[in-house]
Amino acid sequence: MELKDKIIVVTGAASGIGRALALRFAEEGARKVVCADLNLEGAEETAAQIDGLAIAVNVGIEEQIKALIERVEAEVGPIDLFCSNAGILMPGGPEASNEDWQRIWDINVMAHVWAARHLVPLMKERGGGYLLNTASAAGLLNQVGSAPYGVTKHAAVGLAEWLALTYGDDGIKVSVLCPQAVRSEMTRGHEDGVASLDGMLEPEPVADACVETIRNETFLVLPHPEVLGYMRKKTENYDRWIGGMRKLNRAYAGRYRR
Ligand SMILES: NC(=O)c1ccc[n+]([C@@H]2O[C@H](COP(=O)([O-])OP(=O)(O)OC[C@H]3O[C@@H](n4cnc5c(N)ncnc54)[C@H](O)[C@@H]3O)[C@@H](O)[C@H]2O)c1
Repeated sequence: MELKDKIIVVTGAASGIGRALALRFAEEGARKVVCADLNLEGAEETAAQIDGLAIAVNVGIEEQIKALIERVEAEVGPIDLFCSNAGILMPGGPEASNEDWQRIWDINVMAHVWAARHLVPLMKERGGGYLLNTASAAGLLNQVGSAPYGVTKHAAVGLAEWLALTYGDDGIKVSVLCPQAVRSEMTRGHEDGVASLDGMLEPEPVADACVETIRNETFLVLPHPEVLGYMRKKTENYDRWIGGMRKLNRAYAGRYRR
């Protein structure tokens, strides 16, 4: 899909990857980029750079995603591309509280479900649309030190696959973004983390990779090409792959500080 003249919504647009996506879409000539975030001030800063529209939203609440979609459709026009990008990270394993598990589940997974629930019927009716969902390389390879992140990002990849295979015949394209470390608020103070083993990318080349993928209408966005090799190793020999991940766990699991 070409981005020129398109109406685009980006969640998590106040910062990091979401901000870079919004700016890059504007460069491509989008008609309007809606910058949605919990942090309205940050979303307004992004929007101000591109004559965008800033909207406050908590993507962890279905009613707010529904209201976001309804407002954009009414005030701006039919949404061509919806980027479910907002996400959170927390350390820990099964011992993390139920409240934390539910919070990350709602933000990293259900937000994508709710966006599809309220947008796919509209897109189907008009013959198509595009969903770009931000997961992570952790959704393909897991996350040392954070079960809630690794698990929710796997679910996000699974949902994106399901949406792609189910609605492809309705003209709805789906891509899923799976980077390793990217410099952002999320990774500030974690520059030496396990996800940075292959280097930390700036958000701008990640946005470039998304634009290229959307243009080609392919599924997987892998700004760190090494990830494909790790996926192959995992499917070739699961046990050897777990052995390798155990080594990483010994070296890196203790490094989470928040
Ligand atoms: N930075 C990385 O290394 C990396 C790697 C892989 C995937 N990701 C994913 O990329 C996405 C963007 O993260 P980032 O790295 O740009 O981090 P970031 O923290 O800089 O940006 C995330 C944005 O999401 C917003 N947000 C958080 N919770 C929200 C909510 N409930 N409702 C609305 N907005 C909310 C925050 O205010 C923030 O502006 C996330 O889904 C993250 O999991 C990041």
